[in-house]
Amino acid sequence: MSNLTEEINKRRTFAIISHPDAGKTTLTEKFLLYGGAINLAGSVKGKVTARHAVSDWMEIEKERGISVTASVLECEYDVYHINILDTPGHQDFSEDTYRTLMAADSAVMVIDASKGVEAQTRKLFKVCGMRGIPIFTFINKLDRDANDTFELLDEIEKELGIATCPINWPIGCGKGFKGVYDRMKKEVVTYSDTEKGTKEGETKIVSIEDDASVINAITQERHDILMDEIELLDGASAEYDLDAVRAGKLTPVFFGSALTNFGVEIFLQYFLKMTTTPLARKSRDELIDPVAHDFSAFVFKIQANMNKAHRDRIAFMRICSGKFEAAKEVKHVQGGRTLRLSQPQQIMADSRKILDEAYAGDIIGVFDPGIFSIGDTVSAPNEDIVYEGIPTFAPEHFARVRQVDTMKRKQFVKGIEQIAKEGAIQIFQEYNTGMEEIIVGVVGVLQFDVLKYRLENEYNVEIKLEPLPYEHIRWIGNKDIDLDKITGTSDMKKIKDLKDRPLLLFVNAWSVGMTLDRNEGLELLEFGTE
Ligand code: G4P
Repeated sequence: MSNLTEEINKRRTFAIISHPDAGKTTLTEKFLLYGGAINLAGSVKGKVTARHAVSDWMEIEKERGISVTASVLECEYDVYHINILDTPGHQDFSEDTYRTLMAADSAVMVIDASKGVEAQTRKLFKVCGMRGIPIFTFINKLDRDANDTFELLDEIEKELGIATCPINWPIGCGKGFKGVYDRMKKEVVTYSDTEKGTKEGETKIVSIEDDASVINAITQERHDILMDEIELLDGASAEYDLDAVRAGKLTPVFFGSALTNFGVEIFLQYFLKMTTTPLARKSRDELIDPVAHDFSAFVFKIQANMNKAHRDRIAFMRICSGKFEAAKEVKHVQGGRTLRLSQPQQIMADSRKILDEAYAGDIIGVFDPGIFSIGDTVSAPNEDIVYEGIPTFAPEHFARVRQVDTMKRKQFVKGIEQIAKEGAIQIFQEYNTGMEEIIVGVVGVLQFDVLKYRLENEYNVEIKLEPLPYEHIRWIGNKDIDLDKITGTSDMKKIKDLKDRPLLLFVNAWSVGMTLDRNEGLELLEFGTE
């Protein structure tokens, strides 16, 4: 195997999705701990503060004390090179969170065992489902009282529409948590509550055939319950099928406790074997093999103003094929020119390191003098690749925006268009009213603050935002449709985007259904495509 093939094949690039507080940060931290990237758990959270001190991340991040930006974490484990795409976990997540999922080859879904499937998990899952990437489930916090295991699986299947296959099975929970039963190896792994920050502690591994030792390890009562559950499971649950996993139709499920380090390494080992090497991506109608092609990448996120002194922008790219070499020129397909990527770097939790080379599966951040847009393709000059664009995700909050000083119209439009181009917000206009008013849509309400802050600080424009009651936006799938002819509910609003595409806004889901009923053949989409 050539060095290039080897480097690419050892890469595993994934995102961790969860509802806030399910334990995403804790799990990520434990992965990094096993990968040797950090020496002490707690460092990831700690470093966030340190990072704020050393670099000039957005003021707003500092003020609100939350992470607006998503970073990439990397570590080596066993023979693997791991890239974890970190997604903002706060309630106020943004469209970036969705876009980051476009750069992942698989997702780890963390679920709190006492809460089950929650709102944000549902939304993020939907986006992963759209791409059909493999999804692995880690049910966390078994050291606390948990919901019934069968019910948890049932909930995942019903709410998310994906079949489940438990790879291991919890033995009790909370104070009575005894460990997990590994269904593949047919072994009981006993729970060991280790101190926070240390690696997995002393666990006993006992074959399920060895009754006496199992009873000794988990008690007679637990043993009997476990045997019943295993029987039930073997009869009822879906068979493990790697093809179904790879197609995103079956999620392998694992149980553990990220906080006490139990079940994390077991998960990691299975996950790394089951998940995929960097996936081929579509360019026009061709799948671009990561190994067979020279360098290519696409921009999935643009972060402005990371360094206040320079007002710079960083474009994050996912490398899809070949090897990136900093010294070589690349072609920016949409811009129609060749250039050398400036200051390529890997953005880590705690630092940035300048890169000389990187491989398919890796994420790089490059200095962007204002030429890149979300979804753009960059490749070796000899390649002819145009990756499919990234969909526009439905904003859930809308506001009418007015500039306070009407004389500053030019700066206002320039600023708001630039910020929209970076993908922080989406802008719309009234349809057919002749009014020039701008409507802004965002995925997370924090983006309203970001918009206001940036317009004031970077463009010297003060704005007023007037919240609108809409919560649902739909793109229209039908090619030739006369928007005037659509009859909706009284609360429906017709708008258009910057490309003059018509869209509909609704206050509630009921109105969406009603409008579909009233207009035969109307196709309403939750994602906007190019
Ligand atoms: P998030 O990134 O998904 O938002 O979750 P995070 O890891 O920050 O975890 C949220 C809270 O849940 C934290 O407690 C964390 O310690 C706790 N937690 C995570 N995994 C487990 C687990 O397996 N068992 C138990 N019992 N708790 C877990 P916190 O009190 O909010 O924060 P901290 O003071 O511990 O940092």
